[in-house]
Order: sequence, then C-alpha cells, then structure tokens
Amino acid sequence: PMEKLPEGIDPCFYERHWYRSKFIHGSIKFQEHFKAQDTDLILATFPKSGTTWLKALTFTIANRNNYPVSESPLLTTNPHDLVPFLEVDVYGKNPILKLEDLPSPRVLGTHMPYSALPISIKDSNCRVVYLCRNLLDMFISYRHFAAKLSNTPFDPSLIEESFDMFCRGVSSYGPFWDHVLEYWKASQERPDKVLFLKYEDMKEDPISHFKVLAKFMGLPFSAEEESQGVIEEVLKLCSFNNLKDLEVNKNEKTRRGNPCSMFFRKGEVGDWANYLTPSMLERINKLMEEKFAGSGLNFKFS
Ligand code: A3P
Repeated sequence: PMEKLPEGIDPCFYERHWYRSKFIHGSIKFQEHFKAQDTDLILATFPKSGTTWLKALTFTIANRNNYPVSESPLLTTNPHDLVPFLEVDVYGKNPILKLEDLPSPRVLGTHMPYSALPISIKDSNCRVVYLCRNLLDMFISYRHFAAKLSNTPFDPSLIEESFDMFCRGVSSYGPFWDHVLEYWKASQERPDKVLFLKYEDMKEDPISHFKVLAKFMGLPFSAEEESQGVIEEVLKLCSFNNLKDLEVNKNEKTRRGNPCSMFFRKGEVGDWANYLTPSMLERINKLMEEKFAGSGLNFKFS
C-alpha cells in the first residue's frame, strides 16, 4: 500500500510515480527471466478493466476438478492472492510468492502491453486472455482505486486534470489505445494464442463468454457439467455481488497488504456518466475515432 498522501496531491499522478519507482524493476525482471510453460494461461488487462473477475473465473475453470464450488478457495481468498500479478508479486522488489509454488496449469496475471511481454510467452504454446473495458468506466474506476490505494478521499474536482493526462496517453502502462490495439491485433493474427474479451459483453451475456473462455483454455465444459448447472454455479460464485460480500473481501487484506475491498466498487457498465462532462465526452469520442478507426474494434458505453 502507498503511504498516506500529502494533501492536495492527485492520487492518480502519485500512483503513476509510485508505479514507476516501485514496479519498473519488476517489469524488466519479468521480461528478462520469465519462462512460459505451454500449459500457462496469461491474463492481460489494462488496470481496472475487470482483472479481479477474470482471475476468479479462470482460476475456477482451471481448478474445477480439484475443488467443488462449495469448497472453492475463492470463498476465503481474494482472487489476486490466487492468481499472481507477475511483474509485482513474483518479480517485484518484495515478491510474495514463487512460481514453483503455483498449481498447474498456472494462471498468471500481467498489465504489460503485448509488445513488452517476455519472448517466451510469444514463442511457447501458452495462451493469453486479454480483457478490455470501455475506457470511460475504466478511467473512473481507476480514479477511485488510486484514491483508495493512497488512503485519500475520492475528490471529483481532480478528475479534469487527470482526464487530460489520460487523453494524452500518460498512464502507468502507456496509452490505453496502444495497449488495447496491440492485443486486439494479436488476437486477430493468432486467435488460438490470444483471446480478446470485453467486460461489457461478459456482463451482458456471461454464460456464452464463460463457455468461450473455458474452451479457449482447453478445458471446455462437458455436457454433463452443463446439465448439472456447473456453469451457472461458477458464474454465481465469481459474480461481483457474491465476491464483494464474502468476509475475506469485506474485511481482510491481500498478501500485499491492500484491503481486499478496494477491488470491488460498483461493477457496472456506464458509471462514468455520473462523473464526466459533455466536453470530456466529446474529446473522448474524437480520440476514439482517431485511434480505433479501421480497427474493427468498438466499445459499449452503457
Ligand atoms: P468499478 O470501479 O467500476 O466498480 P480490476 O479488477 O481490473 O482492478 O478492475 C476493477 C473493476 O472491476 C471495478 O470496477 C470492480 O468493481 C469490478 N469488479 C470486481 N470484481 C468484479 C466481478 N466479479 N464482476 C464484475 N466486475 C467486477
């Protein structure tokens, strides 16, 4: 966790500085030393795009023969403690776990852009799932998260300046559009290697996306599992409302020392409308047109 911020400092700016000073080292080590195994599943996201949800879902798919849903480790452990954040939890300055201690198949998370991933991820047969979210909800979610991370109250008057930086591409993992477009392109070129999912689609139709995810992982649901309602059971276990209300996620801290509750806020599509002005929206629409035109990629904002 970050130390308490001095008054008047925007937590988003501070988080970026904090990230650079603390995590760059781990990102480089991850690039240089990570050896992917063919059975690995790499979860890639831009921060605040639904990583927690994706971690819960994939961990459950991968381990469903080890634990029945009623005994899932998710009931007592935050998803971030089950699926490590590679550049921080494993390769960061204060690692909290070793890759050798993870069950196989390994499910591993990263926020790194596709172009910065370790070569072994691209060269091995491991698979990558990218989850993206519309940039407005992601931006608002990020602001709330940065405030919690720095233990300061959320201050809406700081949005404008931070929004301007965001639109100029200044963020911990580089410009949002580059991040998304790199993974999008990789998913088009290598569909067996990279699965591209959208948070809004998953919220709208969780069952079919969950099936696609399991199939992509090489662990499709059998007809028997489907008839037994396993899909619905897992989706319920991993749902925002269920995870948010678990004792562990309400009152405990992650191994890294952050309150688990900070990963669960609203879990909705369209919350940005409560914060952003029409002129901000206009600026974003122009930016989206400029950056995503011709890519075939679109986003739902409500
Ligand atoms: P909001 O701040 O909009 O509520 P990440 O997991 O990448 O850090 O993203 C966090 C966002 O995902 C937060 O969005 C959080 O509430 C939402 N979230 C967390 N768990 C979720 C779940 N099980 N289902 C859907 N959304 C979830």
